[in-house]
Amino acid sequence: MPGGEIILTDKKKAAENQRLVVGISGASGAALGIRLLQACKTLGIETHLVISKAGEITIAQETEMSVSAVKALASHTHKSADIGAAIASGSYPTMGMVVVPCSIRSMSEIATGVTSSLLTRAADVCLKERRKLILAVRETPFHTGHLRSLTQLSEMGAIIAPPVPAFYTKPETTSEIVDQFTGHLLRLMGIENDIAREWTGLKGGA
Ligand SMILES: Cc1cc2nc3c(=O)[nH]c(=O)nc-3n(C[C@H](O)[C@H](O)[C@H](O)COP(=O)(O)O)c2cc1C
Repeated sequence: MPGGEIILTDKKKAAENQRLVVGISGASGAALGIRLLQACKTLGIETHLVISKAGEITIAQETEMSVSAVKALASHTHKSADIGAAIASGSYPTMGMVVVPCSIRSMSEIATGVTSSLLTRAADVCLKERRKLILAVRETPFHTGHLRSLTQLSEMGAIIAPPVPAFYTKPETTSEIVDQFTGHLLRLMGIENDIAREWTGLKGGA
């Protein structure tokens, strides 16, 4: 039999559990991707960030942060055109990927497997390796073609998590809405946090 004993080091296992790929595409809601990066930094999660060209435009349009300041929040950043980056291969262990915000264009590419950038290729890798893929798809309303692609993605194992605000927390600021959603995304990825408020039941009971 070729080869020797296979040894799984603790280091490799730990890295697999703590390494998250984050994609920021050109849908509205750049602040959500930024907040996720900030949260991961605080929680000690290694992040690999890819921002699409349109994502850079929405960051400039919607936030007070420069693209380079956003990139500085990540442990590693990759150019969207760098299809040779580590996260383009299934042999590079990660816990999965969150695309937030996720545009219809990126979502559609991921649904078909015809990926033209590192962002969509890295998402495709998560699907083929059966890793968690969370897509915070932001568009409204959806047409039937969008809904068919979303169904296809859900059937392939992706979690479709549109950034829909939770009103039961009575948010007073945009940051509260952003935090609630960010905490929810982290929980979906299996990362416990106290950024999102938990629902503890109706006040005064049912
Ligand atoms: C300010 C701004 C807001 C946008 N908002 C959305 C959106 O909410 N959802 C969406 O699917 N596309 C939105 N778009 C269009 C996408 O950016 C465009 O389809 C782009 O080609 C997406 O490319 P990407 O998936 O590579 O990021 C927006 C564009 C701009 C400039």
